[in-house]
Amino acid sequence: MLKIAVLGGDGTGPEVVAEGLKVLEAVAKKNGFEYSLERFDFGGERYLKTGEVLPEGAVDRLREFDAIYLGAVGHPDVAPGILEKGLLLELRFQLDQYINLRPVKLYEGVDCPLKDKGPKDIDFVIVRENTEDLYVGSGGFAHKNTDMEVATQIMLATHKGVDRCCRYAFELTRKRGGRKKLTLVAKTNVLTFAHDLWWRVFNKVAEEYRDVTTDYNHVDACCMWMVKNPEFYDVIVTPNMFGDIITDLGAMIQGGMGIAAGGNINPEGVSMYEPIGGSAPKYTGKNVINPLAAICSLAMLLRHSAGEEKAADQVEAAVQKVVKKVKSLSAGKMGYSTTEVGDMVAAAI
Ligand code: IPM
Ligand code: MG
Repeated sequence: MLKIAVLGGDGTGPEVVAEGLKVLEAVAKKNGFEYSLERFDFGGERYLKTGEVLPEGAVDRLREFDAIYLGAVGHPDVAPGILEKGLLLELRFQLDQYINLRPVKLYEGVDCPLKDKGPKDIDFVIVRENTEDLYVGSGGFAHKNTDMEVATQIMLATHKGVDRCCRYAFELTRKRGGRKKLTLVAKTNVLTFAHDLWWRVFNKVAEEYRDVTTDYNHVDACCMWMVKNPEFYDVIVTPNMFGDIITDLGAMIQGGMGIAAGGNINPEGVSMYEPIGGSAPKYTGKNVINPLAAICSLAMLLRHSAGEEKAADQVEAAVQKVVKKVKSLSAGKMGYSTTEVGDMVAAAI
């Protein structure tokens, strides 16, 4: 039985997760698999009440599940960094979810902001390293609040961390079976230590994957190509910080945050799936947010943590049907409510 921990989280998180679970119910019935859900109330509201982001033992409890399904993290009344670092990054790090997998796929019938580009041009995956880089929180202040102040924030790359991420990306490229092209996105012309390590490890691992064509882009050029020639890409592998940035750009060229899904993956452990859009406080409780990103994240959960490939394909096919019916992927402009869109996907299954 598939055991899922459900973390609705903040803002619109619980609303979109509810629609994903509706779709899960439909697809489980159709395919005859069973699952159990356990809900956790971690997030801004709980923090404001108890002063605690993740209670003692919470991470170990989460290790008992096959997967975590997360709505969103971020609360307007909580100072920046507390929930992001204390909840989201804490889970990513402690559960060693070293891959952040973010597909960039333009579904048919979705408006693309790029002129003359269609679904055949925009279909790639970004493999973002998820446990290192500027995200490790290493650094600090000296002489804070004086004119002598110094602040440092360390960009960390380890051989092991880069190696396992590159290997995952090569395997994925091979498995996708398309053009089998993997592009490393970094900044080797400036970050001549950390990204030199990336460059060397990437090319070393490449020797074991002769069937995969490799390419390299500096991150600034990648931003340009993603807009001008997104068809260049099949799979991208990149360090954490650049991955954070280019996946937002990726979300926009695939039609917006309303459809952008992601998975924080530990291939040997517990993975966590989340729409990448955030908690959208201004839309909270209005039944207007687009649940498709959360539904696509659920499809990723089925594919990567449940071994239910067929069910995952069915969810994606149902999403494809529904995106043709909605007027827009943006919150409040879909022509349907959040719950109606969830119902439509469940019905299409
Ligand atoms: C994301 C988000 C997070 C990140 C924030 C909320 C910490 O932007 O998942 O892309 O930077 O990874
Ligand atoms: Mg981000």
